[in-house]
Amino acid sequence: MYRLFFNLFFQRMDPEKAHELAFGWIRRAARIPFLRTLLASVLAPRRPELLTTAFGRLMPGPFGLAAGFDKNAAAVDGLAVLGFDHVEIGTVTGEPQPGNPRRRLFRLVPDRALVNRMGFNNDGSAAVAARLAERSAARGNARGPVAVGVNIGKTKTVPEAEAIADYVLSTERLAAHADYLVVNVSSPNTPGLRDLQATELLRPLLTAVREAADRTVTVRRVPLLVKIAPDLADEDVDAVADLAVELGLDGIIATNTTIARDGLGLRTRRDVVGAAGSGGLSGAPLKARSLQVLRRLYARVGDRVTLVGVGGVETADDVWERILAGATLVQGYSAFVYEGPFWCRRIHQGLARRLADSPYATLAEAVGAGHTERPGTTGGPGTTEAAEDDTAAETAEAAAKPEDDTTAATGGSDRTPGGSQ
Ligand SMILES: Cc1cc2nc3c(=O)[nH]c(=O)nc-3n(C[C@H](O)[C@H](O)[C@H](O)COP(=O)(O)O)c2cc1C
Repeated sequence: MYRLFFNLFFQRMDPEKAHELAFGWIRRAARIPFLRTLLASVLAPRRPELLTTAFGRLMPGPFGLAAGFDKNAAAVDGLAVLGFDHVEIGTVTGEPQPGNPRRRLFRLVPDRALVNRMGFNNDGSAAVAARLAERSAARGNARGPVAVGVNIGKTKTVPEAEAIADYVLSTERLAAHADYLVVNVSSPNTPGLRDLQATELLRPLLTAVREAADRTVTVRRVPLLVKIAPDLADEDVDAVADLAVELGLDGIIATNTTIARDGLGLRTRRDVVGAAGSGGLSGAPLKARSLQVLRRLYARVGDRVTLVGVGGVETADDVWERILAGATLVQGYSAFVYEGPFWCRRIHQGLARRLADSPYATLAEAVGAGHTERPGTTGGPGTTEAAEDDTAAETAEAAAKPEDDTTAATGGSDRTPGGSQ
């Protein structure tokens, strides 16, 4: 039913206008107690077998909304009603900024993909912190079941030499409200941002943000993550993995959008892709590379760093595949646009089936189970047996395959014809 609605209605609208319209509905639905309860019971029934602990926080499940949908933390409760187990807000920058000129969001419908060059349009860290504080006060300071991650980035007008101070400012304002904090150095739409992924720049940045979080929040240790791009060379992925272990980082989110257009097997007409212009591509065509980066990271860090898998996740099979590849949490964004409000419900149903059909008693047991090699034996810090990284990644990929094939053969896809249920 949603697909029909999408085809008839949303697809004819400018994508950003459609986003704003849907966003308004989601935000308002959560404000009406009766509607909120009704929707949550239909869209987000609890499944105890999916309960997930990550970053010291119990969540209803492993599946969350990736950063960028709710940049200003304006609809967290509505998104929880739709069934997301965690919501990552942001990217929030030190100062408010309008982002790039419109049009800046495009659909590649035949590929179930999006291209965006939003440019971190957001209200700034002071306003978002105030909004989160207000939400917290309204709940009597009780943390709801759904975890809130806070993703921070650099203000566009801040020179690169002052980037650390800008991230520190956001950290000081937002860390207290974050179940986990993400340093985003991987969005393609802020000039120079992705250069911060180089370890010589990333080390001082992450160290400063860690110190700022510890200085600001003394009652608990706020988990700190970094979000990386799928366009990093394999050796740079390894370098970030090693740095994460070295700094005692809590997590890595893999991946952000890609600047690539070639080699993704795009089905959308070249002129349509060309007309969308520059920006980050997300959705189904990103699936293979994001999964590859995740596998590589897990082979390197094992369970020393918690991994969050994102990029091209559409179905419960995709979520399961990321978990076997080493992700404790999995996120999605683009497929939400194409799948609609029953998306989380379908993911949860399918995932519960995958788990029941598997040899694992819990999702936690399944994390990384697609790897045959003992993780952390591929030359990362603290390892004893150095192996060829590529070989290890390929072995892990091959090892995960029979599992995927089995689930595909026995369970099929969790997609319902027509897209709703
Ligand atoms: C319109 C749009 C805006 C986004 N904005 C952000 C952002 O502000 N910060 C960020 O870290 N990622 C952002 N992302 C990237 C997503 O969080 C995610 O990493 C990426 O889209 C891959 O997941 P997907 O294929 O499920 O969409 C954005 C993605 C889209 C489509």
